[in-house]
Amino acid sequence: MIELGQRQKDYQLRVDEILQGFFQVSEEHAPKLKSAMQYALFNGGKRMRPFLVYATGEMLGAKQQDLDYPAVAIECIHAYSLVHDDLPAMDDDDLRRGKATCHIAYDEATAILAGDALQTMAFDILANATLSHDSPKMQLALIKQLSHASGYDGMCGGQAIDLASTDKRISQAQLQQLHSLKTGALLRVAVSMAATLSPDVAPESTRLLNEFSVNLGLAFQVQDDILDIVGDSSTLGKPQGSDQAQNKSTYPSILGLRGAKDYLSQLHQQALHALRALPYNTSVLETFTDFTVQRNH
Ligand code: IPE
Ligand code: IPE
Ligand code: MG
Ligand code: MG
Ligand code: MG
Repeated sequence: MIELGQRQKDYQLRVDEILQGFFQVSEEHAPKLKSAMQYALFNGGKRMRPFLVYATGEMLGAKQQDLDYPAVAIECIHAYSLVHDDLPAMDDDDLRRGKATCHIAYDEATAILAGDALQTMAFDILANATLSHDSPKMQLALIKQLSHASGYDGMCGGQAIDLASTDKRISQAQLQQLHSLKTGALLRVAVSMAATLSPDVAPESTRLLNEFSVNLGLAFQVQDDILDIVGDSSTLGKPQGSDQAQNKSTYPSILGLRGAKDYLSQLHQQALHALRALPYNTSVLETFTDFTVQRNH
């Protein structure tokens, strides 16, 4: 078993340093907005998407300096998605990562703008990257992938289905589509951006990486849904029971808690199965997969 904790801390530090660097050099014309953006980024997130970029890329032979760009860009998209997810018009939550949500700590207009600015910051980072080979071509490939995964065909589309599925009974197939878009798309693109920056990934490996990330992405949200029921707010750092209070469509609401846990363990095994078939040392990603389904926050 690989010790995940130290690696997680190393990547976290790296991501935080790079992101802090951007704020150090940016102008002070909108201090409240800048402060809200920093509040949303530096408040104790697990940095799982950057971890996935680094761990996948390093496994495939990519350079860490190249991986920095998609790693921090995807975290900006993620942070923005959480700020908007918590807004009164969406999940209307007041606690995130153990602190007041952005719109409570600041105000709603500032939170909306902070989300907008974090989103564009992600693409600014990729557009201004200097990659070690084929930079313009690679930058464009990363921008295409990340924009696709973030927008209508990814996270935003999933969030819209989430809202449309509230106070409704939807089928398991519809729920799978919801989860696969709102959460799965960003986890899948973490893996695919890492593969893009890696040398000579064979088609069969690309297929297995995709199978891994599809299952991991779904598993991630199934566990998030389960934690909403079995977790506690102080460990979660966000309000326990938020999904139930709002009558959201989740795996436990459709399959029951037992059924959701069974489905999670099926996704867990499928993700591991795909990893083990890869001709690379997948031990870090296997441990990461175990952590994803076993985490308590
Ligand atoms: C929470 O994501 C939102 C979902 C997509 C389920 P994380 O659990 O990765 O949140 P942080 O970044 O660690 O706070
Ligand atoms: C949010 O899903 C997924 C996003 C795209 C942000 P949730 O609404 O379940 O996330 P939490 O539980 O608030 O973190
Ligand atoms: Mg939500
Ligand atoms: Mg939410
Ligand atoms: Mg949730």
